[in-house]
Amino acid sequence: MTATTDASPAPTDAAATAAQRVGVVGLGYLGAVHAACMAELGHHVVGYDIDQAKLDALKEGRAPFFEPGLPELLTRVCSGEADGEITFTTEVGDLKACDVVFVCVGTPQRKGELAADTTYVQRAFEALADVVKGPALLVGKSTVPVGTAARLADVLAERAPHLELAWNPEFLREGHAVTDTLSPDRFVLGTTSPRAEALLRRVYARPIAAGTPVLIADYATAELVKVAANAFLATKISFINAMAEVCEAAGGDVKVLADAIGHDDRIGRKFLNAGVGFGGGCLPKDIRAFMARAGELGADQALTFLREVDGINMRRRAKVVDLAREACGGSFIGRKVAVLGAAFKPHSDDVRDSPAISIAAQARLQGADVVVTDPEAVANAQRLWGDLTYTTSTEEALSGADVVLLLTEWPQYVGLDPAHVATLVRGTQVIDGRNVLDAAAWRAAGFTYRALGRPNA
Ligand code: UGA
Repeated sequence: MTATTDASPAPTDAAATAAQRVGVVGLGYLGAVHAACMAELGHHVVGYDIDQAKLDALKEGRAPFFEPGLPELLTRVCSGEADGEITFTTEVGDLKACDVVFVCVGTPQRKGELAADTTYVQRAFEALADVVKGPALLVGKSTVPVGTAARLADVLAERAPHLELAWNPEFLREGHAVTDTLSPDRFVLGTTSPRAEALLRRVYARPIAAGTPVLIADYATAELVKVAANAFLATKISFINAMAEVCEAAGGDVKVLADAIGHDDRIGRKFLNAGVGFGGGCLPKDIRAFMARAGELGADQALTFLREVDGINMRRRAKVVDLAREACGGSFIGRKVAVLGAAFKPHSDDVRDSPAISIAAQARLQGADVVVTDPEAVANAQRLWGDLTYTTSTEEALSGADVVLLLTEWPQYVGLDPAHVATLVRGTQVIDGRNVLDAAAWRAAGFTYRALGRPNA
């Protein structure tokens, strides 16, 4: 892999900054953000999806999910205020004249298996092979098992030799998706073709000119970069959660420990927040698919540690359920549990594999009356887990509760006044699943404060 931090060979000539005809296939989280950002960067964008209702919403500047800044950006690019423009279609044939088409469809975990399901990716490339006239570049952005791009390149070579393939993984974080796309930490361009590289450099000319580093890789490395990054982040979180387990046994304080080791530049403080662990549509699925793929390649031993990473993560959820039951006096039956947060992290309405929902559901199964609240994720949670009680009112959730669980660190929950909360609840037990509350203030208000990896004082 080679890296360049300068803008070469971009954009010294007019062609290098010219607007491209950009197609985006799949307007889910990744695709909707990517399409809007490509228009913001000055390109003529055609966004394709099979879901007409989703397209209608996007056209009106409404994102089908909560993402700060995206509605404003959609409104801008749809109303012609941006340098580029965007149109939406359910006809794949409308992508025929594109210079470059990004494939952004999902790769969910297969039911009953660890591996990722690449059916949607396969279908998207086959459909494009039949309609895109070319010469054009098809670009995979979906997170796929290593080896997928090489297989797709063979399909294209046979069915559509006028089309080239590149792999260009995305690293956007929910809640920061727009800025992560417009000014990412780096671009990884998986291609050995100078023409494909030049075209991608034209597409990303502005952020490259602004200093975003570009790394050129072969297909396999580009695919691996994405899952390796997510595996590293998951490992970092599970490492600190393992330290929390040891702190619990030894009477230490994991927050102080994280601050102390985080001062070492080689370690860094980011992603060392101990708590209920990681969830969402990416980290859990990606580490499992990575293990499955390594197994297929005969390299399973290399990633056996990720089983432990997954295991530590799951144990933290069970630990909070145990603490909550204990706080209820040994049984959930007849007790009300208030759960603050449903989303897998704040500033998101995504409840996929959310630790908060997983904990709430286990407490419910063990007999608790569980009331879940969240500023953005209640509708999504309700759709998937109808068995829990939901409210968008924090006060209603807290009212009469025997125990309060803080499971998603939305600022409005972190900033709650414990003295006011004390006037609403029935019990005086609070469990801080994210280590974000002011323990002294909650204790001063009369609460028994418990957290993960921290002393009980
Ligand atoms: C993750 C990666 O961070 C992105 O770089 C990547 O592009 C994306 O997956 C993807 O594959 O599409 P995201 O799923 O939005 O992004 O969420 P993160 O911000 O990584 O958080 C993941 C989970 O870890 C959350 O549940 C969060 O609460 C938890 N977390 C994070 C901790 O428990 N402790 C921490 O210190 C940090």
